[in-house]
Amino acid sequence: MSKRVIILLKAFVHLLCLAPFVWLLHLYQNGSLGLLPDPVNFITHFTGDWALWTLLACLTITPVRRLHTSLGFLIRFRRMVGLYAFFYATLHLLTYVLLFSGYDIPTALAGVQSGHLSEAWTQFKLVWPRMWDDIRKRRFIQVGFAAWVILLLLAATSPSAIMRAMGGKNWQRLHWSVYLAAWLGVTHFWWMVKPGVMSPLRVTIVLDVLLLARMGYWVMKKIKARRNLAA
Ligand code: HEM
Repeated sequence: MSKRVIILLKAFVHLLCLAPFVWLLHLYQNGSLGLLPDPVNFITHFTGDWALWTLLACLTITPVRRLHTSLGFLIRFRRMVGLYAFFYATLHLLTYVLLFSGYDIPTALAGVQSGHLSEAWTQFKLVWPRMWDDIRKRRFIQVGFAAWVILLLLAATSPSAIMRAMGGKNWQRLHWSVYLAAWLGVTHFWWMVKPGVMSPLRVTIVLDVLLLARMGYWVMKKIKARRNLAA
């Protein structure tokens, strides 16, 4: 595949991944977000959903690329899509910290604008006890946070220079934890909904199919290696 086509495809993937964020900004700008009964709840759910779906899209790239040699180029988009998953997960976390928990944004901004940078931190310290209490009491937030920490680690180690410094094998081992992050994200979703609500079922099925594909590939590889040894 030519370099030009890859650049065009990359631009297309960027547009696709940014579309939900642009849509959210659009809803904010045209005032529709403010008309919703609970805008903060909407943003929390919207960013959480997109964090999970982008993460699953990232996990889909490897099994799809293995279907045919001509699909090998797809690997070039994996890091990009993974970073978008981290982007949406971070927006989701920021929504929780800055909007959900009652952080006083106007006061923090006014403080920063008048040169008191520490005001942002002072406001955080005010909401922290309530947030900490929430984190301690609600285990779905604990697993969500664990998923975000893994995504942070993966994003921080994603540049090629870090991969070279870590060594391919170590890097790969660490990056397998992306499955753990997705599993924690799905668990976070199940633990959040009320008993009997089935909205997390779709993401669960997708993740299970991806895990099965991964295991199937691993088993086939082992069988092939044994056959080669025996031959
Ligand atoms: C960083 C720490 C995280 C915090 C503090 C957090 C917090 C929350 C909160 C407060 C809600 C809404 C709960 C409610 O309405 O009662 C939520 C929903 C959700 N979160 Fe998170 N979350 C975190 C990380 C994640 C991550 C990493 C993912 C995905 C990989 C994720 C995916 C979701 C999903 C899918 C929903 C439900 C969306 C829906 O109902 O459609 N969260 N989260």
